[in-house]
Amino acid sequence: MTMPLLEIQNVKTVFTTQRGVLRAVDDVSLSLSAGETLGVVGESGCGKTMLALSIMRLIPPNGRIAEGRILFDGRDLLQLTEEEMRERRGRDIAMIFQEPMTSLNPVLRVGDQIAEAIRLHQHVSDREALDRSVKLLGEVGIPDPEKRVRDYPHQMSGGMRQRVMIAMAMSCRPRLLLADEPTTALDVTIQAQILKLISDLKEKNNMAVILITHDLGIVAEAAQKVAVMYAGKVVETAEVEKLFARPLHPYTRGLIESRPSGWAESDAEKGSYLKTIPGTVPGLLDLPPGCRFADRCSLAEERCRAAGPALAELEAGHFVSCFVAESLAKS
Ligand SMILES: Nc1ncnc2c1ncn2[C@@H]1O[C@H](COP(=O)(O)OP(=O)(O)OP(=O)(O)O)[C@@H](O)[C@H]1O
Ligand code: SF4
Ligand SMILES: [Mg+2]
Repeated sequence: MTMPLLEIQNVKTVFTTQRGVLRAVDDVSLSLSAGETLGVVGESGCGKTMLALSIMRLIPPNGRIAEGRILFDGRDLLQLTEEEMRERRGRDIAMIFQEPMTSLNPVLRVGDQIAEAIRLHQHVSDREALDRSVKLLGEVGIPDPEKRVRDYPHQMSGGMRQRVMIAMAMSCRPRLLLADEPTTALDVTIQAQILKLISDLKEKNNMAVILITHDLGIVAEAAQKVAVMYAGKVVETAEVEKLFARPLHPYTRGLIESRPSGWAESDAEKGSYLKTIPGTVPGLLDLPPGCRFADRCSLAEERCRAAGPALAELEAGHFVSCFVAESLAKS
């Protein structure tokens, strides 16, 4: 078996707030190999972005990674010096966000911004960096790249701007791309094109991708593995086919079943299906002692409220954290 490119082991990321310690990422373990896409799904606030930012070691100043290891190619990123980590960012690990406008500089031409990203990690001339920018814009499917390289961000559509962000992320051929809801702000057709682009780039470069989304439909289309998060924890993770064929956690079942037209259908009612599971997520500041899903779970039993279930491998590669799923899978 090949060694995974990324191994997240028991990572806890916490925030110090006026109301106490908030556990944004709570004992999360995941692994990912080159050439694979891992979809991370879950409701707003469950810790998806903080998980990605933990990998980048870019969590906000009032937060810290309190425990765990993040092995990238066998080396623990959490043990690197800040300077070593800076080297990794962009070069080995790159991240793209939902809203490109917040990451692009509005007063710089897109070509210059990509060139700057290239020159951050590679010693090449201005001319060479700009030539590569044109090539990258072509690679991410921007027509007429020689001309568009001189555009300012506001002269481009949302979809084109996201392509620019992807070009920038790809500029140093990262081995891991973290994509945090990269298509949420885009309409459905453009969304599909951007997902296809990410998937093509992944194949071509044998890159690993973490694709964060609210939408199980996107996971089904674009990912090979999936992790379902709930209130800071991974509650179920498996290969995509396995998870959709036989979801074992009641929360995952709820997500899949409450999609009226089936999970595979892309997203006329994007995100809305999540709201149809009755009840709300517990606050991360005052978490119940037992299973965090208990208040919303139709299968909850007495024992569920006493202590939280551990994530257990119920079938090969299929991990679930639920007492009842455990007995169901065994029976
Ligand atoms: N700087 C901060 N200080 C305190 N709490 C924070 C801070 N940043 C995030 N959080 C909390 O951490 C938790 C996880 O946030 P995160 O942004 O990872 O959620 P998310 O799953 O990405 O949600 P969304 O789908 O809305 O993007 C949330 O409860 C959030 O309120
Ligand atoms: S552990 Fe209990 S409350 Fe939690 S998801 Fe499973 S059955 Fe529901
Ligand atoms: Mg987020």
